[in-house]
Amino acid sequence: MKLDQSFWEDKYINNRTGWDIGGVSPQLQKYFSDLTEKNQKILIPGCGNGYEAIWLAQKGFTDVSVIDLAGPPLAHVKSKAPSVKTIQGNFFQLDGHFDLIIEQTFFCALDPSLRPQYVDKMATLLKPKGMLAGLLFSIEFDREGPPFGGSIKEYRQLFEDQFDLITLSPALLSIKPRLGNEVFFEFRKK
Ligand SMILES: C[S@@+](CC[C@H](N)C(=O)[O-])C[C@H]1O[C@@H](n2cnc3c(N)ncnc32)[C@H](O)[C@@H]1O
Repeated sequence: MKLDQSFWEDKYINNRTGWDIGGVSPQLQKYFSDLTEKNQKILIPGCGNGYEAIWLAQKGFTDVSVIDLAGPPLAHVKSKAPSVKTIQGNFFQLDGHFDLIIEQTFFCALDPSLRPQYVDKMATLLKPKGMLAGLLFSIEFDREGPPFGGSIKEYRQLFEDQFDLITLSPALLSIKPRLGNEVFFEFRKK
């Protein structure tokens, strides 16, 4: 299966977006609420309907960018938060430098063979000491993905060369259907 633009756009057009929780995860809301630097450069890749970006923009964060392969959800972001920079394209081809990148069901949407590239790309996109933070699944799924699962052990191995793993622990504020199956993490680029 090719997880390309038409694969994802088809999901949005046909309303087969089971991953979409309709808002910001309480775990991320808590993390965002503790952020004080409103002018930092923030990126949300594979943003889908971009609830995190909309929330941040509405709270006064001035430099929020999102990227997604699919057009329809980006139109949603733009309509709700015109100040957010929306980019339609492939994360792996994005240029730029960010202070903070947010992960929310993007990593799990990628073919697992791309995981080392994901780590390298995040390190390239972050400024020195920049942060990658968000939620990752800590469960292996029975069905073929996406979503593709993972484990704390795997994440540690993937990220520890290029990032300081500040937090990597079970998410206590997951939405109910994901409770016990997600970890919250904060990784600082070395
Ligand atoms: C499972 S969805 C999650 C969307 C959103 N983060 C959410 O939680 O609702 C994965 C998203 O990643 C996007 N995507 C997949 N591969 C991508 C890539 N290489 N570059 C940019 N976006 C990508 C898809 O179009 C889709 O919107």
